[in-house]
Parts: sequence; C-alpha cells; structure tokens
Amino acid sequence: MEITLTGKRALVTGGNSGIGAAIALELAKAGAKVAINYVSHPEIAEQIVHDIQNSGGEAISIEADVSSYDLVAKMFTTLDEAWGGIDILINNAGIDGVKADSWDVEIKDWETVMNINLMGNFYCARQALKRMVPQKSGVILSTSSVHELIAWTGHSAYTTSKAGISMLTKTLAQEAAPYNVRVLALAPGAIKTTINQNVWNNQAGLDDLLEKIPLHRIGEPEEVARMAVVLVSDVASYVTGRTIFVDGGMTDYPDFAHGG
Ligand code: BGC
Repeated sequence: MEITLTGKRALVTGGNSGIGAAIALELAKAGAKVAINYVSHPEIAEQIVHDIQNSGGEAISIEADVSSYDLVAKMFTTLDEAWGGIDILINNAGIDGVKADSWDVEIKDWETVMNINLMGNFYCARQALKRMVPQKSGVILSTSSVHELIAWTGHSAYTTSKAGISMLTKTLAQEAAPYNVRVLALAPGAIKTTINQNVWNNQAGLDDLLEKIPLHRIGEPEEVARMAVVLVSDVASYVTGRTIFVDGGMTDYPDFAHGG
C-alpha cells in the first residue's frame, strides 16, 4: 500500500506552528504542494516554505486571519491564482483562549475563540467546498480535539468550538458526499506543542497529564501529521463524516482502569 499525494494542492490553516506545521511538512513529504496559512510570525511560515522547497517540494505562504470571511475569501483567490484551486484543506487554525470559568470569562475572549475556531473553520470549509464540489473531488480535514467530547473546566469556548467542528464535519460530509468530497476531523489528545507547554514543562503538570493518557506519554506532532496524511489520501477513500481520535487512549477514560 502506497500513500501518495503527488500533485495535490493543499492549504494548511495555522500552518506555521504546532500540529499545523507538522502536517504541512508531512503533506509535502507525500508529494503535495502546500500553502502555509499564517496570521503571525511570517518568518516561521517562510522557513517552512524554504524547508519544503529545499527538499524538492512546492510551497507558498499566505497570510490571512481565518476569523474574517473577506480575508479567507481573498486567501482562496490567491490560491486559485497560484495553483488553480485546491484539493486538500487542512482546517487547522485554532486557539485555546484565556482560561476562566464561564461566569468570569470576558465575552470578547469567548467570541475570539469561537470566531477563530468555529467561524474560521466554516469560512474556510465554505470556500473550499465552492471549489471541490464542482470539480467533484477533494478532502477537508479539520483539527478538532479530544475536547469535542471531554468537558474542560475553564475552556467552555474551546470545548464548544470543537464540539461544533464535530457536527459541522458530519453535516458538511453529508452535503458534499454526492460530489465525491470527503469531510473529516482529527481529534488530537495531549500533543507536545506550545499550546500546552505550560502543562508539560513542569513536573506536577506533566504527572497529572500522563495520568490521563493510557499510553502514558505525550504525543508528538508528527504522530498526528502521519494520520492526517493517511486520512486525506486515497487509503481512506471510504472514510467521511467522522472524527478520528489520535489521543493515546485519552478518550478511553483511564480512570476506569480501576473501580467504577
Ligand atoms: C489542548 C491541549 C490539551 C489537550 C488534552 C488539546 O485540545 O489544546 O492544551 O493538552 O487537548 O487535554
């Protein structure tokens, strides 16, 4: 079984950090052309573009804040001009926001998370589907989280946005299926990136986190990225509308290894 994405045109939102960057590099390794979307740190996006080009691949970077529909539409026009369209959307840009109980959280902070994580996801999916449906091919893969399922105190906007991505994925998959377009989500658990650095970089936080993971280790971004490549490839041609968990067993609720 060979996985190849040769010639496929991919866009990775939030492609210059964490899981997004790992997916961008892995897609390029599989032969895809990769557009790295970013909203800050252009120099990191450029570095990834150069790394891909130096390994013989094709890549560009595109700045756009996904929480603005106009800027998303412009990003897709840029992609049309560069490569004539899109085959793979990695709908990945997201933040976890300011930790606060719902009765304390600032409304603007709550809105910011929803606007980036959920509205941004929809805006990008909408633009991608406008292109994929008429060409009768394409795959959209969103980065969800174990927190589309697991409640998380202090992160109500984040969990709600990820649960929203789950239902959006199912509904868009149903709409797009007659046109041979697949829509999927990936739900990472605790993956070693800057988003959760404040947890794994201290012993107490790390110990607590590891208790929540049956495989008893934090995942590497590459472990999510490899699954992303599988899911957007023809190897997964009969998979759509689902969230696939890449979480070391976190959603298996390890506390139930005893008692109950
Ligand atoms: C969050 C991480 C967290 C993980 C497991 C992810 O969605 O972004 O900060 O470590 O879920 O709780």
